Amino acid sequence: MAPVEEPVVIPSTLVGKRALLGVTGSIAAFKAAGWVREMITESVDVTVLMTGTAERFVSSLTFGALSGNPVFRDMFDEEPDKLMAHINLSRSADFILIGPATAQTIARLAHGMADDLLSTVVLAAKIPVIVCPAMNSHMLTNPVTQDNIKRLQDVGYHVVSPDCGMLACGEEGSGRLPDWQHVREAILSILCPQDLAGKKVVITAGPTREPLDPARYLSNRSSGKMGYALARTAARRGAEVILVSGPVALAPPHFVTTLSVTTAHEMREQVLAQAKQADIVVKAAAVADFKPKSYHTQKIKKSSAQQRIELELNPDILAELGEKSKSGSLLVGFAAESQNHEQEGRRKLQQKQADLIVVNDILGESTGFDVDTNQVTLVDKKGSQQLQLLTKTETANRIWDHILTL
Ligand code: CTP
Repeated sequence: MAPVEEPVVIPSTLVGKRALLGVTGSIAAFKAAGWVREMITESVDVTVLMTGTAERFVSSLTFGALSGNPVFRDMFDEEPDKLMAHINLSRSADFILIGPATAQTIARLAHGMADDLLSTVVLAAKIPVIVCPAMNSHMLTNPVTQDNIKRLQDVGYHVVSPDCGMLACGEEGSGRLPDWQHVREAILSILCPQDLAGKKVVITAGPTREPLDPARYLSNRSSGKMGYALARTAARRGAEVILVSGPVALAPPHFVTTLSVTTAHEMREQVLAQAKQADIVVKAAAVADFKPKSYHTQKIKKSSAQQRIELELNPDILAELGEKSKSGSLLVGFAAESQNHEQEGRRKLQQKQADLIVVNDILGESTGFDVDTNQVTLVDKKGSQQLQLLTKTETANRIWDHILTL
């Protein structure tokens, strides 16, 4: 009998992961304490290893108290549960995160030195190692440091580029330790299969706004959460992602190029330009179907209010892409429905010449606007499939799984 293939697990969160956090001697060590807090909040079991110089910046007590685990510092610790720590620690962890990583630690790792606990643990590890350099920008751009970083990347370590901004030394430049959300995204993408690598994906999200006068516009209740989840998960799975977003209250996803637009016409312009080189276009945006026929440059006064606002149709971007899609990109649309879900999904699949329509129930309490969960039906040329009620991130991953089968 052929072996049963295990389904590929796509992590949507870090819940339940076991992390080793290596903290080295940089002023940014205090930020690593914040990372521990964030990890604990997400139920990550984190064990901290500190170099001797790290302890000059932050006490091991801080990391012990925050993580709830003993802190490891010494190669030659004789406490029974710390014996052979250099071999045992990485055996029970999912990844090693080193941040802040000083130029010194990076040089040590790049040259396979094993002269302290952290470098020895890393050398003996068989799990992903993620290095977050943080230092003065001249130290960072020094060809010696750059060579060492490249060496780490060449042998398979993952390096998260530092942020730019004001450094502790008072200079402006690159070298700041990134914030936790950025690092978390990098870790998730390292733990995810890279099955969208090499694909360029264009995703639209959010509502559009159609102005009536300087104070008013026509729009809808889309929060953009589904489209943003699709962008985040595609980036984690290795795609190059362009997100064309209407006005939303969400932070731009990490490792995604976000282009902000307001009206349907602006969205059309960006999407048509970006779609030319795209392998996959996903239209999750709730484009306003209509816009006021004329824009009033002055605020319409109550006293002079017209009884009617004349509307005109906006361009249907998905349908336009469908006509052009002979160009080769795979086309995915959404359908926001309050009834006849599958029937409407199939009608839109045909009318807009899409390859897949994701039907959304906008009346459900856990599937409507602005919630974090969704239950969608996938309608394609071969049939339809209703997914379970899932978080929007999990739903996004299931949509990508399905797209990959098309
Ligand atoms: N869409 C689009 N441009 C529009 C309207 C919709 O690109 N002017 C896209 C949406 O991004 C979505 C799909 O078409 O991917 C379906 O949108 P939906 O609002 O559900 O359907 P409509 O075309 O507006 O049809 P109806 O009003 O009949 O529901």
